[in-house]
Amino acid sequence: MEKLRVGLIGLGGVCGAVHYPGFSRIPGVEIAGICDADAGLVARRQQEWGLAQGCTEVDEFLRQVQPEAVAIATPNVYHQRLIYQALEAGCHVICEKPLGMNYPQTIEIYQRALASGRRHMTAFTYRFVPGMNYLRHLVRSGELGQVRHARFQRLQDWGELAIGWRQYKDQAGSGELGDMGIHRIDFAEDLLGPIEVVCAAARQWASRDRRPDGQPCSPQDVEDWVAWICEFAGGTTGIFEMGKLTKGRGPDGGHDLAELNGTEASATYQLHTPHQILYARRGEPYQVRPVPAEFLKRPGSPRNPGEGDPVQTFRYDQAWEFVSAIRQGRECLPSFYHGMRAQAVADAILEAAASRRWVEVPPCQP
Ligand SMILES: NC(=O)c1ccc[n+]([C@@H]2O[C@H](COP(=O)([O-])OP(=O)(O)OC[C@H]3O[C@@H](n4cnc5c(N)ncnc54)[C@H](O)[C@@H]3O)[C@@H](O)[C@H]2O)c1
Repeated sequence: MEKLRVGLIGLGGVCGAVHYPGFSRIPGVEIAGICDADAGLVARRQQEWGLAQGCTEVDEFLRQVQPEAVAIATPNVYHQRLIYQALEAGCHVICEKPLGMNYPQTIEIYQRALASGRRHMTAFTYRFVPGMNYLRHLVRSGELGQVRHARFQRLQDWGELAIGWRQYKDQAGSGELGDMGIHRIDFAEDLLGPIEVVCAAARQWASRDRRPDGQPCSPQDVEDWVAWICEFAGGTTGIFEMGKLTKGRGPDGGHDLAELNGTEASATYQLHTPHQILYARRGEPYQVRPVPAEFLKRPGSPRNPGEGDPVQTFRYDQAWEFVSAIRQGRECLPSFYHGMRAQAVADAILEAAASRRWVEVPPCQP
């Protein structure tokens, strides 16, 4: 197996839960070093993961460690700068979602990655849920017929206290839309093709001016609920709702649903039962259908789907896709193109909500 030296930049929640465990179980991959602006966290992670190389400055990290590939998992505002630094150092890059702060920024990021000749991937993790792998197969094989309409929901109960950088526009770009909505834009387009036009509403309900330790802080300035209806280029209509203040939908990750209603059958994915879907043909109630073994993980993934919590472990297949694309010299899926594409839709949603009208999504050049 070809050896690959990977560096991790941004060592917080998603790095610990997804990137580190994903990369560290791939044969031939070495976690060559880690970097975070927080020196205390770098030291803790070094001890926890048994790593010699740890830095707080990205330039120094890239110079000293010389990784061949990096995973960037910082607050959104830093993605663009860190991607550019990593590409300039010759690295392949997987970057967290949302790829940038707005659509124009993601166009620049995508163009820069294309020009670099390096592999680039956006961490749209939910593409790797086994139930989603199977739904994709059912759509593409034609088993559902023509999908007429579809609904997508991500409803959670995060409470009303401050949630750090996520609640500020200058650090996150947007609120619930960039946090949860952008994943659903991406997998809806993966399943059903490009979204052409949207009509939307967004609200900020909570002030979030108190931190969990009781100390006051600046109130949030982004939406914590967003909904939109849309038309896909293929004619399917879609309805989406995302919210962080949905009592009854917590505390362990809440509710995540994608339901496709076709001319032949309906099929429903739910994140919290990732190894099964619901399926029904005309005149039948929904029945549970187990996800067939071939869709439980990505081909060749070193992960055993029978081990660990299946709501968490599917996420490791994302690192497998990135490393496989590098080794095979092919495009990653999803790439920065998909990060840009989802951002085009997200910006159209914000514009539609602000202007209270239908907004066309601009076509994106691959
Ligand atoms: N794909 C997914 O399912 C998923 C899940 C959660 C978060 N995310 C995304 O991952 C990113 C990080 O989210 P998180 O929840 O891990 O946040 P977090 O706050 O837990 O961690 C972010 C880390 O980045 C570090 N950091 C900040 N600025 C830095 C810089 N300039 N250089 C290096 N390190 C820096 C912080 O010190 C912190 O440790 C965000 O873009 C978020 O949207 C994606």
